[in-house]
Amino acid sequence: MQSWIPLVPESASTVSWKVDALYFYLSGVTLFFSLLIGSVLIFFVIRYRRRTPYEIPRPVAGSHKLETIWTVIPFVIAMTMFAWGARLYFEQYKVPENAIEVYVVGKQWMWKLQHATGQREINELHVPVNRKIKLIMTTEDVIHDFFVPAFRTKADVIPGKYVTLWFEATKTGRYHLFCAEYCGMNHSGMIGSVIVMETREFDDWLSGNVGSTTPAAAGQQLYQTLGCASCHGANGEGGRGPTLAGIFGNNQTLQTGDTVRVDEGYIRTSILNPQAQLVTGFGPIMPTFQGQVSEDQLVQLIAYIKSLHAEGQTPTTAASPATTAPRPGASPTQNIR
Ligand code: CUA
Repeated sequence: MQSWIPLVPESASTVSWKVDALYFYLSGVTLFFSLLIGSVLIFFVIRYRRRTPYEIPRPVAGSHKLETIWTVIPFVIAMTMFAWGARLYFEQYKVPENAIEVYVVGKQWMWKLQHATGQREINELHVPVNRKIKLIMTTEDVIHDFFVPAFRTKADVIPGKYVTLWFEATKTGRYHLFCAEYCGMNHSGMIGSVIVMETREFDDWLSGNVGSTTPAAAGQQLYQTLGCASCHGANGEGGRGPTLAGIFGNNQTLQTGDTVRVDEGYIRTSILNPQAQLVTGFGPIMPTFQGQVSEDQLVQLIAYIKSLHAEGQTPTTAASPATTAPRPGASPTQNIR
């Protein structure tokens, strides 16, 4: 599978051609000015060469007009690069609502992935074509970098926090997945594939790979065994900690008076370092769970908390298994648990 220009990888996502367009614009501008400056340089060397050993050149007077021209033109060009690049950046890194969620945990030297419907994969990611996929990524050890050249998408995966990335593949096929951050001896072996399938095929794949519990269900189990429920009862029972139902995606007021949006990172911090962002009205009584839960388990707890909805509230997040295919006009993916 080759693209029409052998210099760039195949283009297989909604943003890849936009990245290429910007790339070619930058290369074009660079090439144009390199050639222009190069040829003018050669021309001047010949035109203004010293003709006799005692020749004294005419003194050069400054020119405001020239100065202005060669300041304004590069400025305008640089600003087009900035505006274009910034626009594309925001498009690429602002995760759309209603994407299918996949949890990614990097470790030396493999990618561990889990679908919201429970299927686990290592160094392979199966996704349906023409659907937005959101990756929620972290790492167990050092910094890795999730890079799919055909989608023109990549992000560093950082220990201790969640990085989100999204893409929408436009063509079925198998695409390279690389770790693009030097992460130790077998960094070069930390490779895999993203397999883009027709929706029907993907549904078959999903139903053929059941067996593991969903992250949310595993999280619920953990929630019980770790004793979370004794303080954070689903609907406020317990009373020693804030209720967690329906908090995901909403704002919480902290003791400091600040508000914070409850996202994956906030829940993670609150489990590992509960005193860091204390919700107003509650004492600093929660113990840390640092060292007691693995990255995989953290992801499960977060998936469970996301799936909790306040009474009478309609589910809105894409986290609960039933909403992994939330686009209206729905594919059969929706029915698969
Ligand atoms: Cu992981 Cu390089």
